[in-house]
Amino acid sequence: MSAIGSRRQTILRLLAVGGVGAVGGFALRDYAPWTNYDAEADRPRQPFPSDPATRPRMMGLIRSATLAANGHNAQPWRFALSPNSIAIHPDYSRRLPAVDPADRELWITLGCALENLLIAARAMGYAPEVTYPENRDLIHIHLAADTPQRDSLFDAIPSRQSTRSEYDGRLIARNQLDSLQNLSREPGVGVHPIVERSGLATLADYVHESTLRQYADEAFRQELIHWLRFNKKEAVASVDGLYAACTGNPTVPRWLGQWFVAGAKPPDLAEAGVKKLRSSAGAVVITSLAETRADWVRTGQVYERMALRMTFWNIKSAFLNQAVEVESVRGKLQSALGLGAARPLVLVRFGYSNSMLRSLRRPVEQVLMPT
Ligand SMILES: Cc1cc2nc3c(=O)[nH]c(=O)nc-3n(C[C@H](O)[C@H](O)[C@H](O)COP(=O)(O)O)c2cc1C
Repeated sequence: MSAIGSRRQTILRLLAVGGVGAVGGFALRDYAPWTNYDAEADRPRQPFPSDPATRPRMMGLIRSATLAANGHNAQPWRFALSPNSIAIHPDYSRRLPAVDPADRELWITLGCALENLLIAARAMGYAPEVTYPENRDLIHIHLAADTPQRDSLFDAIPSRQSTRSEYDGRLIARNQLDSLQNLSREPGVGVHPIVERSGLATLADYVHESTLRQYADEAFRQELIHWLRFNKKEAVASVDGLYAACTGNPTVPRWLGQWFVAGAKPPDLAEAGVKKLRSSAGAVVITSLAETRADWVRTGQVYERMALRMTFWNIKSAFLNQAVEVESVRGKLQSALGLGAARPLVLVRFGYSNSMLRSLRRPVEQVLMPT
């Protein structure tokens, strides 16, 4: 291997991240230093208005929804605002056909957004009532006036993040583990924490296998490259996608980042994901007994609630969803973990570490549908 080839491999090993892979390094720590990233990251996370006027509060609800976890930070949502309701619509122009051909994760993502919106609505003086998307291509939330019910999950919305670094190996308390298990209030949705070494070793095998499969797929790599933002300028221009620095990577011009991703070796990436799992206190599999759109939405709600609860406890979490995205691996994982008829839809690791750079969001005005 040439010196540069070997350097590229070393960097890629260092940079590989669970699930979303490696983006390039080198010496350009701060490409486009004149761009103010922090101001963009602050904007969606401003305090929510307690204004008695309806519209600013409703806009605040939509802003809270946009802060939810979402696949590749593609933000595949649009919001329709009416005097007494908000509807969340899928934005299929932002779907991820390679990684999510059935739009399952798209609807899980909309469930994450819904959960933030519901928590914020209760905190801001509404009694929300949800109609799930059984027959219609949207989630409808009717909002009646009510007494505000503030809770700790509301305060956690702006600081929840997917923290993709290695964790410090510390375990979480037994009572926290128990309360995660009892978190699901959604019919058919189950939360399965795994902390024993044997269970985690099984998960590691499937994370490894699925990462190899995904990176062997050219369509997967191309889709990832499309959503990667290799430097601050790109990230701030699009206010979406996966910004390299949010995964702890240095930033580079696009041509160099593409070169790194194209040259990434699947075994290195798979090993990096496994290492991150090993550094974690444990993992959680979220399952559903059925797989309609409404079930996917409810699964997203449970994930988001769990992530907010962990944020409140200062526990970090990150998805390793490759193991449920690759269909053949998902089936093996389901039987190896003894989940019976419950289908695994989300795999998340958790533990302790420092926070990372915050991801960006499009402003509410950009995701609002014309009335
Ligand atoms: C359904 C779903 C699947 C995801 N899968 C992965 C994954 O496999 N690997 C990963 O690193 N992040 C994954 N994410 C996290 C998103 O990339 C992340 O939420 C997004 O980039 C926004 O960043 P934030 O969570 O820090 O706000 C997933 C999120 C959702 C909702």
